[in-house]
Amino acid sequence: MSSPSKNIESVLVESRVFPPDARASTGARIAGMAAYEALCKEAEQDPDGFWTRQARDNMVWTKPFTRTLDESNAPFYKWFDDGELNASANCLDKHIGTPVEHKTAIIFEADDGAVTEITYKDLLARVAQFANALKAQGIQKGDRVIVYMPMTIEGVIAMQACARIGATHSVVFGGFSAKALQERIIDAGAVAVITSNFQMRGGKELPLKAIVDDGIALGGCESIKTVFVHERTLSDWKRVEGRDITFAEALEGQGIDCPPEPVGAEHPLFILYTSGSTGKPKGVQHSTGGYLLWAKLTMDWTFDLRPEDVFWCTADIGWITGHTYVAYGPLAAGATQVVFEGIPTFPNAGRFWQMIEKHKVSIFYTAPTAIRSLIKAAESDEKVHPKNWDLSSLRILGSVGEPINPEAWMWYHRNIGHEKCPIVDTFWQTETGGHVITPLPGATPLVPGSCTLPLPGIAAAIVDETGKDLPNGAGGMLVIKRPWPSMIRTIWNDPERFKKSYFPEEMGGTIYLAGDGAVRSADRGYFRITGRIDDVLNVSGHRLGTMEIESALVAKTDLVAEAAVVGRPDDVSGEAVCAFVVLKRGRPTDAEARQIANELRAWVAKEIGPIAKPKDIRFGDNLPKTRSGKIMRRLLRSIAKGEAITQDTSTLENPAILEQLGQAY
Ligand code: WTA
Repeated sequence: MSSPSKNIESVLVESRVFPPDARASTGARIAGMAAYEALCKEAEQDPDGFWTRQARDNMVWTKPFTRTLDESNAPFYKWFDDGELNASANCLDKHIGTPVEHKTAIIFEADDGAVTEITYKDLLARVAQFANALKAQGIQKGDRVIVYMPMTIEGVIAMQACARIGATHSVVFGGFSAKALQERIIDAGAVAVITSNFQMRGGKELPLKAIVDDGIALGGCESIKTVFVHERTLSDWKRVEGRDITFAEALEGQGIDCPPEPVGAEHPLFILYTSGSTGKPKGVQHSTGGYLLWAKLTMDWTFDLRPEDVFWCTADIGWITGHTYVAYGPLAAGATQVVFEGIPTFPNAGRFWQMIEKHKVSIFYTAPTAIRSLIKAAESDEKVHPKNWDLSSLRILGSVGEPINPEAWMWYHRNIGHEKCPIVDTFWQTETGGHVITPLPGATPLVPGSCTLPLPGIAAAIVDETGKDLPNGAGGMLVIKRPWPSMIRTIWNDPERFKKSYFPEEMGGTIYLAGDGAVRSADRGYFRITGRIDDVLNVSGHRLGTMEIESALVAKTDLVAEAAVVGRPDDVSGEAVCAFVVLKRGRPTDAEARQIANELRAWVAKEIGPIAKPKDIRFGDNLPKTRSGKIMRRLLRSIAKGEAITQDTSTLENPAILEQLGQAY
């Protein structure tokens, strides 16, 4: 890899441009910039007509809609709201009687390399049968169901089966703790949990069902009547009589026909919890009609999906990327997709490349953090370098979740795409439901590190605090000025927080504030995301609120008096969590500090999940505060980065503690 100084330079003046080559643009749905611009123009001049056409052409409605966008109660926008449809029918039933019926829907590769394939027809039968099993346990339209499952065909079936009966799922990532699970169960008022006994990751068997038990035992989860347990492994697990039921038991005697329940287009398909800058995670609520339309459309637009493609999105179903580009989008678009249970470094760091060769993957969609860690691995061990595998099946590459630095982009382009595959650097968020700013593989000239231009119908702009547009070249806040079909509908149980978080009054109350900083290039007007402008960290593409981690630390009441958390740049994970801690017992000795730091990491893993564990912990007699008692976070960020302190520290109440904070554990 090149030196850090070169990285910085290339971020600042990125002048390389990669126009789409003929392979990508020939036959593309949106071929060339003129076609893209024509779509944008149409969406801008006649949004109603544009979205009506898209929703009719791309979706099956059991009751056609007559209203496209209802803005009467902005920012609670409604789309296609008098129409009815079912999401599962739009992913599965729709293909029956077409050539897709007998096509492979999912190629599942287990952690140990075992492969299982399932066709659309068989997937429909299994979803319908599991939907019947849900109904047999009394689960009804409108109920909330927690899904806490590994990457498996059953995970996708669980989500699709909920959708089929009109139950709203809330998937909780399998790496989250019992406490995090309990909080989500309570907030969602869930009636059931669907889980697995264990999950297999990197050759290890990790408990899931036992964590569900622990979460429920924390209290307040009386709404849970049933826990469905998929027996992923042969290992024993503890059954709670009268509440737990295995998949096999639940499916017994259930037929494979289950008519999809029609729901209104605005019916909540799912709630997905994500971190915000304050307080507890927010339950981002998505609709059925608008969300699914976007999942399908972006498969066609961003990935230019063709019938013979093998699509592989490596994201877990516990994140939004795994919702839109594993559980819904590929199925709605009739794709063959790879679902992978394991991790990129097991049995070695060549796993992704080996799987691309084995399954002839043509569209590969992953996160910059994975790319960066695989670059590192390939550079230290020739045997896992991608050159050892045949990657010629690849046609399009994608990146998601965090900014991709130009050096990682170039490596991806050369070593994985062999300079032939466009890279779609897709910018979006849990709240946007699907891609909003992204290159189109058959149209957009690419600039490394830039997510380029908004999709048709997305009125993205960069503004100052008052909502005023800023010129190209000036950094500001990213906003989307007009509603779009797959946008967040509300925060579950907290409409006021929804308005406050995303539609600030100072900007008029109807403009969506993304929470990211961005800048447009002077020449092309291309967007480059500069990172979150709030207290949200992005660690390996996972969103974490600094406040959440602070609350977890101070909840260790026997040890911690006060804590502050900031992020610092990290070569592989993008950002790393850095905690500043004041202990009740005073500043520890060196040996004590090491031990306490590990204890605190284990504690945070238990409170939130291993992904939230602070990488660095620093101890002081106090935190650097102004005389009025405000923690000087900017200063903490400098310390975390190991920078020389250049800020004015004259307002600091106790300058001596800066020295104490110099050592990280
Ligand atoms: C960041 C993940 C730069 C951004 C889909 C956003 C990105 C947050 C990109 C959302 C990208 C996502 N370039 N930054 N291509 N994609 N982000 O909700 O900070 O888990 O606000 O959704 O990830 O994270 P979330």
